[in-house]
Amino acid sequence: MNITLRVWRQRNSDDTGQMQTYQVTDVSPDMSFLEMLDVLNENLTISGEDPIAFDSDCREGICGMCGLVINGLAHGPKERVTTCQLHMRSFSDGDVIDVEPWRAEPFTVIKDLIVDRGAFDRIIQAGGFITAPTGTAPDAHAAPVPKADADAAFDAATCIGCGACVAACPNGSASLFVAAKVTHLGLLPQGQPERHSRALDMVAQADLEGFGGCTQIGECTAACPKGIQLDLISRLNRDVLGALAHRG
Ligand code: SF4
Ligand code: FES
Repeated sequence: MNITLRVWRQRNSDDTGQMQTYQVTDVSPDMSFLEMLDVLNENLTISGEDPIAFDSDCREGICGMCGLVINGLAHGPKERVTTCQLHMRSFSDGDVIDVEPWRAEPFTVIKDLIVDRGAFDRIIQAGGFITAPTGTAPDAHAAPVPKADADAAFDAATCIGCGACVAACPNGSASLFVAAKVTHLGLLPQGQPERHSRALDMVAQADLEGFGGCTQIGECTAACPKGIQLDLISRLNRDVLGALAHRG
């Protein structure tokens, strides 16, 4: 396949940035999208040009490091995959593909396609933890958890913190991410001591970081590679209201 890429190039956070066009030839349909970028970067490096900066680590959908807006869609056109799990067979010979970074005010562009997602770390630091001593694995198993709660907590825990939900949301809201983290811990007995403060503090930190409010549009859940469901945001809202009522 021969592909035309229009890639966002930006030297640093102060640069205004612009789209730049590249031709990539002999692309195998079995290449991942990131491998295709690797090949382009090799060619750029050989010809003395600055390679395109982008994030990745595990390249198997686990770490949440990768994230590109491809043809206007967070993580590209295939549902329920991360950018690293997207393959060139999802495109056709001759396609023109736009590649941009996550766009949201709290996600400052560091260079090209890399954004600073430190805001997510600070939201986790605000409340995404437990203080209950959990002992070793056998001790943790000794705490009875209803099966339905364990399953729902596990589903929420699959959030990898990639930020696609924010990139896809017209409001730039981080509500799906916060809801996943609050639900994950709030459904388990070990998460109860901080249940109220967690919900309030994580939402307050998201506001402080400049993420927008949720108006239940649902683009977040459509873009989420882990299928985190929109009803978790309703659950988060109930937790916040419960915490406010408890505080009085
Ligand atoms: S909720 Fe989904 S899209 Fe948002 S950070 Fe978690 S895994 Fe990524
Ligand atoms: S590189 Fe780890 S999820 Fe894509």
